[in-house]
Amino acid sequence: MRRLFVAAIAAAGLAGVLAHDSHPVSRRKTLSFGPVLPHAAYHTNPVYHTRLLRSDDPYEVARTFVEDLVRDIPGGSYQIRKDSYTDQATGVTHVYVRQYVNGIEVADGDINLNVKDGVVLSYGDSFFRPKEAGAQAFQRDVDPHSEYCQSLEREIADQLQHIDGSKPQHGVDRDALTQLGYLYDWNCQFVNLPDFMSESPDFANAEDAASGDVTRALLQFMIAATPSEELSAEILGNTGKYISDMRVTFEHHLAGDHPPTFTVDNVPDAVNPVKGRLAFVQVPNGDATSLQLVWKFEVEMKDNWYEAAVSAEAPHRIISVVDWASDSPVPMAPIPPKGGEGATYNVFAWGINDPSVGERSIQKENFDTLASPLGWHALPYANDPESSHLRLKDSSKIRNTTTTWGNNVFAHEDWEGRNNWVNNYRPDAGANKVFDFKYNPQVTLTDDALEEAQKYINATVTQLFYTSNLVHDLYYRYGFNEVAGNFQQHNFGRGGQENDAVIANAQDGSGYNNANFMTPPDGQNGRCRMYLWNTANPYRDGDLEAGIVIHELSHGLSTRLTGGPANSGCLGWGESGGMGEGWGDFLATTIRSNRNYSDYAMGSWAANQEKGIRNYPYSLDETVNPSTYKTLDKPGYWGVHAIGEVWAQILWVVSNRLIAKHGFVDDLFPPKPLDDGTIPEGDFYRAREYDAQGKPKPLVPKHGNSLVVQLVLDGMKLQPCRPSFFDARDAIITADKTLTGGENFCELWEGFASRGLGVDAKVEGRTPWGGGVRTNGVRVPAECSSDVPPPEEPAPGDGDDDDDGDDDDWPWLAWVVQHSTPYSWRWPF
Ligand SMILES: *[C@@H]1O[C@H](CO)[C@@H](O)[C@H](O)[C@H]1NC(C)=O
Ligand SMILES: *[C@@H]1O[C@H](CO)[C@@H](O)[C@H](O)[C@H]1NC(C)=O
Ligand SMILES: *[C@@H]1O[C@H](CO)[C@@H](O)[C@H](O)[C@H]1NC(C)=O
Repeated sequence: MRRLFVAAIAAAGLAGVLAHDSHPVSRRKTLSFGPVLPHAAYHTNPVYHTRLLRSDDPYEVARTFVEDLVRDIPGGSYQIRKDSYTDQATGVTHVYVRQYVNGIEVADGDINLNVKDGVVLSYGDSFFRPKEAGAQAFQRDVDPHSEYCQSLEREIADQLQHIDGSKPQHGVDRDALTQLGYLYDWNCQFVNLPDFMSESPDFANAEDAASGDVTRALLQFMIAATPSEELSAEILGNTGKYISDMRVTFEHHLAGDHPPTFTVDNVPDAVNPVKGRLAFVQVPNGDATSLQLVWKFEVEMKDNWYEAAVSAEAPHRIISVVDWASDSPVPMAPIPPKGGEGATYNVFAWGINDPSVGERSIQKENFDTLASPLGWHALPYANDPESSHLRLKDSSKIRNTTTTWGNNVFAHEDWEGRNNWVNNYRPDAGANKVFDFKYNPQVTLTDDALEEAQKYINATVTQLFYTSNLVHDLYYRYGFNEVAGNFQQHNFGRGGQENDAVIANAQDGSGYNNANFMTPPDGQNGRCRMYLWNTANPYRDGDLEAGIVIHELSHGLSTRLTGGPANSGCLGWGESGGMGEGWGDFLATTIRSNRNYSDYAMGSWAANQEKGIRNYPYSLDETVNPSTYKTLDKPGYWGVHAIGEVWAQILWVVSNRLIAKHGFVDDLFPPKPLDDGTIPEGDFYRAREYDAQGKPKPLVPKHGNSLVVQLVLDGMKLQPCRPSFFDARDAIITADKTLTGGENFCELWEGFASRGLGVDAKVEGRTPWGGGVRTNGVRVPAECSSDVPPPEEPAPGDGDDDDDGDDDDWPWLAWVVQHSTPYSWRWPF
């Protein structure tokens, strides 16, 4: 297929461009797909069963509610997950419920309930329900993966037909083709492997071929997952050896009747033992689903951290896979300085997106006593990875550091591009913590550009540490705190899982021109990798572009808030995966914006191109950014970044409606708490209100830009696992109802409807790649309609006039040519 792909490009008269190899972007192989569950839904106005009693205990309310929902499922049971929590700011309890059938977990059987004052405000539900009551629906050897790949093949075939050889610069959306090429390569290259493997004598003859063998299923996954073609070929040639090298250790738990968990050692290309358990996942079966028995693996690799479900019985098929790592591709008004003797940093201050829009200056360690009680350079010895040999349990003994090492972030170089980090180099600012380092990059010969960039590692790591800590503190104040699953080594007894600060690699040597973030569940460190960009001389350093750092850290935010802190599998692919990208762009853009409206492009400085790294800048002008919901149907929008761009654009339009109504606050940071811990309203929050019982209502940000950040974060907490655009929209509208009593109901709907997400928006035939046929909805609810009907907008998303002809700078074709594969393709025509 690749050959065919390249031949078609050449025939289209684009061969000249093939030689244009300027600055190839680092692409990280990543797999992500899984069943679209036809019955999963988010209910924003649940109808109450009259029997349902109101109770003061939100968990009691949740239990009663769930029991009502699921009573007829044979063999069914459920558990309220331990990562459920009450949001102190809004008073909403987020209850996460996992389904079990015959004692085995249904890994995508999720109910999330949002409960307040004894009432279920909204809930998402993807519990398995058999098609006919009483019938058990276990299915063997279904192959949804193969169906997904067929749909992807059809899309590529369709696109190739649109190549117009007479107009080399027009009619071909190169990024789109590249994107599809990658999707196909990575996800579908090994789609036939299970059949091949089950017929291979080596594989079958290996000892203990009994069904349900963990190692065979895992090895098949690793063949598909490893980015090394040599390694997959090597494994295929020596299957028996690799199988017998793996060691499976079962961990039987004393209590509970659930199947054991296990770990597997010596797994090729995994950097740590693979964790696993037996589970069900749902596979589509008409308008319902069937249960498929799978091994659920957590596989940590250098560039990926996978949660994969592989059918337990041979032929072992990959049923779903989520990569907890996300690729890239931005500050705020100055914060009032705080007294005391914190650290100082010579940095691009919060608010300066990148070196093209400002100078460095001396900034103070600006920690917020609520978000970072110890400041940025201290953590208990008991939670300190460098002190683990001391085996201290007492978290009152505090280690103070003079480096970029603290409770929220560990920042350092990673020139080797490996996984080690504890002993990597980080600047030491001495007892006074003055992080004032030189940054003065010079033009050099190309061969010396890397060495030149590395001279400024002190300044770069300092910047990464500073930006990352401010992001931690900002998101904290909008509700990404310990119980919500934030990233901290020590949680100050405030709940949530500890020992999971962000590991931030500056100038990561594993690539150029990108960035990525890995989000495992709460209690395991997030990992942020920033790269150099060889798009200019001197090289540009992603660490210095706040928008990119914020985008990456926002993956951690959205992944931990959606579906609960312990479930990192909710933003894996399709629309949900795309929104995972979109939130990062939206928050980065909101953070850099000021009261004088302006359009913004993502990553312009690092990528050294004005339009940045997306198709369009974020803009209220439809001629500048025409994206609507329907745009997702366009060729090339089957990838999380393109989908995310549409979502971020819709949020940008919605947020500016709120700014028009409520005005703009220069500093997005809420006021710092008083000595007694209470939060003053300042000019930031509206005057606090009290309910009929005299209980304080949640504080409401006064201004449009701070309000929208609050609603977007609250929406993440309310929405279901694997949300669609509709679910995320509804969750934001529900968040406004909870926070303000719904006073922005019409502005929100009007904003969404102006970009196609009105009440009459529709989608048919969603695929795990983000495919499907969408209809823009331009209508708002009846109570918001004025006499003037909404304008009949054309759907700008389906035109083909977007080729701006200047994308030679974006060197996608180099990859197409470099990339070849020893495996033959299954190609339908
Ligand atoms: C670290 O600093 C804190 C606050 O200044 C102090 O109470 C603590 O004793 C210091 N820790 C050590 C080990 O010096
Ligand atoms: C980084 O800072 C340290 C401590 O001030 C200094 O010794 C070192 O030379 C600096 N590194 C570079 C590459 O300038
Ligand atoms: C906004 O524009 C006004 C008028 O041009 C200018 O005085 C002000 O400094 C600008 N504010 C910001 C935050 O850029």
